[in-house]
Order: sequence, then structure tokens, then C-alpha cells
Amino acid sequence: MTDFPDDIFTEPEDVDPDTLANPGPLTPLAGVWEGRKGVDLNPKAEGPERRDFLERIEIQPIDPQANGPQLLYGLRYHIHILASDEDATFHDQIGYWLYEPATGLVMQTLALPRGQTALASGRAAPDGSSLTIRAERGGPGYGICSTDFLDWAFRTDSYELAVTFHDDGGWSYVSTTMLQVRGRTEPFRHLDRNTLTKVAEPTPNPLARIRAGQASKLEAHGF
Ligand code: HEM
Repeated sequence: MTDFPDDIFTEPEDVDPDTLANPGPLTPLAGVWEGRKGVDLNPKAEGPERRDFLERIEIQPIDPQANGPQLLYGLRYHIHILASDEDATFHDQIGYWLYEPATGLVMQTLALPRGQTALASGRAAPDGSSLTIRAERGGPGYGICSTDFLDWAFRTDSYELAVTFHDDGGWSYVSTTMLQVRGRTEPFRHLDRNTLTKVAEPTPNPLARIRAGQASKLEAHGF
């Protein structure tokens, strides 16, 4: 895609500081969420393992971000997952949901503590009822990076996340990660799904709180 401006340095002016008013199709994701009926299908030596899990996700607005002329509104997220039958963390993930109002582009960054990062992109359905994002290993843009060991033993070829927004304000997801497990002939479909219910409203982003006179600069930024 080369439909970009010649001037790559000038940032947009008159940017609305209130991220919660601008993340387009990402708006219904902002807040703190819990889901107690998650299901995971992961690769084990003896074959696919199915586990039930509990999930808590915090998704908070950040200040508007410009890459030169490219304006992005974003939400920072932290996913924490516990297996129903285990005390230790089952899955942890942090990153950003990003939206470019000028083009409708939606992105998600992922960082996983197993030594894996990804940048996935996609679009929302025109009626805003769902969105899908995807990353593929080896692409020049949106892609997946793994440790050398993971790339050798559990090569992650693609990641796709489909989010559906519900009329009651909740949402659900299906995450599909295609793994090529060393020694296996067939790719493994690592599947996760859950339905989330809101347990707290989001906190407006620092710049919005400063501009609204609700907080000083240092307070708003958590100093
Ligand atoms: C709700 C989300 C997820 C949960 C609950 C989850 C859980 C798990 C579990 C329990 C394993 C097996 C771990 C082990 O045997 O040591 C696993 C393996 C793996 N997962 Fe996930 N996962 C999730 C999402 C993802 C995503 C989004 C990616 C990458 C984009 C990913 C990449 C991998 C890889 C590469 C492995 C193989 C490594 C291994 O088995 O040691 N997972 N996952």
C-alpha cells in the first residue's frame, strides 16, 4: 500500500485529546472485563489438550499518537488468564489496540512472555458488530516474531482474532494461532475463546483529564 503523503513529518493539528470519544470500532472494548468460561486448545506431546480458564482484561485509553501525519487512537491492554485448576498464570499478554480514523485501519500489538511479539491488522465490520485482525509470520509489515527455540519447535505461522460485540455491552472472541509443531505433519490449530463482561468503566486518558481540568499533568500521568 503506497497511498501515503509526501510530507512524512508534519503532524496533524487540532487533535481531539479525548481518546474515549475517538477509537471508532474499538470503543466497546474500553474498560475492565472478566470472563469465567474460557476454553483453550493447546499442543501437548500426547496430543491436543483442552483447558477451561478464567480471564481478566484491563483495556484503558492512551493519549493520541502521531507517526508524522498518521494519527492513531489507542487502548493499552493487559490480559491475565488462570486455568480453572491451577494457581500459576496460564497466559499473560500485553499490548495496544490501535485505530486510524483516516483509513479505518485497526491494529493490535501482542507481547507474550514466552518470547513472542506480533502486530496484527484488520478492519471492523461496516455495522461495527465485529472486527477481525490477522498477522502472518514472515510478512514485511504485520507479522509475528518468536524466539529461535519457538520458531524451531512451535513455529507460529499465523494469528487471527475475531471479536464479536454483543447487544448487552459484552463481547466475545475466538483466537486462532496456527502452529507448526516440530515432528508433526499437520499444522496445529491453537484455539482460544471466551466471553467478557464489564466489571469497571475505563479511566479517561491523561491528556483528556488534563484538558478537562480533572487532573494536573503529573497526576494524570501517574507520577
Ligand atoms: C487466550 C489466549 C491463550 C491461552 C490461554 C494460551 C495458552 C497456551 C497454553 C496452555 C499452551 C501450552 C503451554 C505449554 O505446554 O507449556 C500454549 C502454547 C503456545 N501458545 Fe498459547 N495461549 C493463548 C494465546 C496464544 C497466542 C495469541 C499466541 C501467539 C500469537 C500463542 C502462542 C503459543 C505458542 C507458540 C505455544 C507453543 C509453545 C509451548 O507449547 O510451549 N498463544 N498456549
